[in-house]
Amino acid sequence: MQVCRKIDELLSCVEQFKQQNKTIGLLPTMGALHEGHLSLAKRAKKENDVLICSVFVNPIQFNNKEDLEKYPRDLDSDIKMLEEIDCDVVFAPSAEEVYAEEPTETYSFGALEQVLEGPQRPGHFNGVATIVHRLFKWSKADRAYFGEKDYQQIAIVKDLVRQYQIPIEIVECPIFRDPDGLATSSRNRRLSPEARKIAPKIHEILTKSAELSHNMSYSQIKSYVECEFKMRKAFDLEYFEIVDAKTLQPIRRPSENGAVGCVAVWLDGVRLIDIQKY
Ligand code: PAF
Repeated sequence: MQVCRKIDELLSCVEQFKQQNKTIGLLPTMGALHEGHLSLAKRAKKENDVLICSVFVNPIQFNNKEDLEKYPRDLDSDIKMLEEIDCDVVFAPSAEEVYAEEPTETYSFGALEQVLEGPQRPGHFNGVATIVHRLFKWSKADRAYFGEKDYQQIAIVKDLVRQYQIPIEIVECPIFRDPDGLATSSRNRRLSPEARKIAPKIHEILTKSAELSHNMSYSQIKSYVECEFKMRKAFDLEYFEIVDAKTLQPIRRPSENGAVGCVAVWLDGVRLIDIQKY
């Protein structure tokens, strides 16, 4: 496994792969890898000749300085984990390498970015699109793998691919959960042991809401979920919204595209997100 710290090193690996007619799978990450990342990495490795995994805490997608500073980083452990699953290339550049010059890319995703995470995290999706677009260009990947927990991110990345006609397949992977139901996330590491015990409630509330959805309207489900979080002091609910699975616009009745409940909630100073399909 080759560890590239420089863009030029990555480009020469990619050049070699292309000369050998190898298909390339890309797994973009911000590191602090967990079982969820590994399940995506294993899938990418199986479906492509080679796997490139990027490990880069992208500063321009953080609109909160403290969140960026506290984001967990453990490159040595990431490298070890990727080696074990036979990853071919780890691309782990510094921020100075990626943003040697001030990034000037400006993207527009219309209504897709005006809901859910968009208003809560100004500039976030522009930052995500900037790095993802660059990674797609450098890696020349045939497929890129994203987890469904970041549901809106997948919609934005798909729209990026559509707008710029990037020849890459976006592979959506189901959420990987710990045995108690908590969606795996690098941020889970920051939870205190007490908060970690309470955290599975998020999935529990959402699962219950899906059961109730057979006899309840979407407004009733929304009230139910909001109420369940509000009555537990440890949680501070940022939003819960039921949206059209494709357009991501809030809906009040079932849509032919399907419906997804998206939640962002604070627990122990950590912002957690999760989804539920209805
Ligand atoms: O989902 C993430 O970890 C990040 O948003 C991504 C896609 C690696 C871009 O920095």
